[in-house]
Amino acid sequence: MSSNPILIKKRADRFNKIITVTGDKSISIRWVLFSSLANGISKAKNILISQDVLASINAIKKLGIKVKLKKGICEITGNGINGYKYKKNLVIDAQNSGTLGRLILGILINTPYPIKLIGDKSLSKRDFKRVTDPLSKFGVKFKLTKNKNLPLTIYGSNRLKPFFYKEKKGSAQCKSAVMFGGMRVHGVTKIKAKKSRNHTELLCKYLKLPIKIKNKKNHDIIKIQKVKKIKPINYEIPSDISSSAFFIVLAVLTKNSKLLIKNVNVNPSRTGIITILKMMGAKISFRNKKTYKGEKRADIKIVNNPNLNAINCPSKLNSEAIDEFLLIFLVAAKAKGISYFKNLSELNEKESPRLKWGAKILKMIGIKTIVTKNSIKIFGNPNLKTNRKITIKNYLKDHRVFMTSVIAALSFEGKSVWKIYDKESINSSFPEFLNIIRKFI
Ligand code: S3P
Repeated sequence: MSSNPILIKKRADRFNKIITVTGDKSISIRWVLFSSLANGISKAKNILISQDVLASINAIKKLGIKVKLKKGICEITGNGINGYKYKKNLVIDAQNSGTLGRLILGILINTPYPIKLIGDKSLSKRDFKRVTDPLSKFGVKFKLTKNKNLPLTIYGSNRLKPFFYKEKKGSAQCKSAVMFGGMRVHGVTKIKAKKSRNHTELLCKYLKLPIKIKNKKNHDIIKIQKVKKIKPINYEIPSDISSSAFFIVLAVLTKNSKLLIKNVNVNPSRTGIITILKMMGAKISFRNKKTYKGEKRADIKIVNNPNLNAINCPSKLNSEAIDEFLLIFLVAAKAKGISYFKNLSELNEKESPRLKWGAKILKMIGIKTIVTKNSIKIFGNPNLKTNRKITIKNYLKDHRVFMTSVIAALSFEGKSVWKIYDKESINSSFPEFLNIIRKFI
């Protein structure tokens, strides 16, 4: 049963603030998985405490790994790359997390017993064939529901062979799953991957694993070999740019406002939202830039500029901004002119069909859109004022749909009353979201 909706009747007042958001989800999950395979104790500070990361911790606990979590410090005791200990009939629940569900399959390709992978309603509707198809080429077998979905069972093999994987979707989850698989296989696993977030590669390099990477213009070539040993990883997780993005857009859309967001991961494979918003006229800059264990971090400064222009968004930025498009659509709604975003079919493969949702939210506000299966045209209106009752019921409980709706409610002028359901969905990526929002109302 769904709990009470949140009600928003007033827009955010102008602000000048400094905030910090919680830890990066992609890096937190990868740190958990790598640490579970290391020899010895790994410690992380500022790990994201959210449902997706807790599901990852529970998954490795079920595989026999010891985990301590206290006062923002997580300690994982790995027993080496072949150190998992578990009994037959194991079930792992990835809950809402595509990243956990897909990456862990790569790690489990040599499991001596079949393991069942399950997930929540949203994850069970998502495509797992995209990861089981390539992993099968190592010689491992899968049984999926309807040939595509969870629940699935993985039947591991001890006769694995490497292969050449052409990753064409720009999916970091598929690429990373095959990388984890390659770490278990004799010989060279080669991947030609369309550009996508590269946290797995950076951790492999930092850990000095046998990996070679060539960065080409539109793709990367990754060669990975069997890993013998992983050293423990002490890591301070930076803030998540995808969580920061909600407040970046709040500042971009709230007149006379300024905002500084501290210590955010600004890996260039994640900063598409900043490139796109700057192309539209937003004033955003990095302060205090640093490199930490291969990853870039900085404070992000936003100064509101009311003159925003439409964009014909280059598709090469799609993967760098893949989790932020719902927010980018809000900015396009307030920009002068018609914006166009294309080649975005991957957006409908997320926790919910987000291209459809983006158009739906804009329609409710009174913005004209033309949507196809993989593109959207947004007819921006800088003078938009809405005075309607707007209700957002989000059937698959997609966290980013909920949070984007809150940002829309706070930043679009007019007397609208917004009723937004499914606040619990924020638990998967950003449980602190509403507490930080309270600083702006
Ligand atoms: C992620 C990759 C992306 C992204 C997701 C996190 C990751 O998914 O949307 O939120 O941590 O690797 P895809 O690999 O499906 O593009």
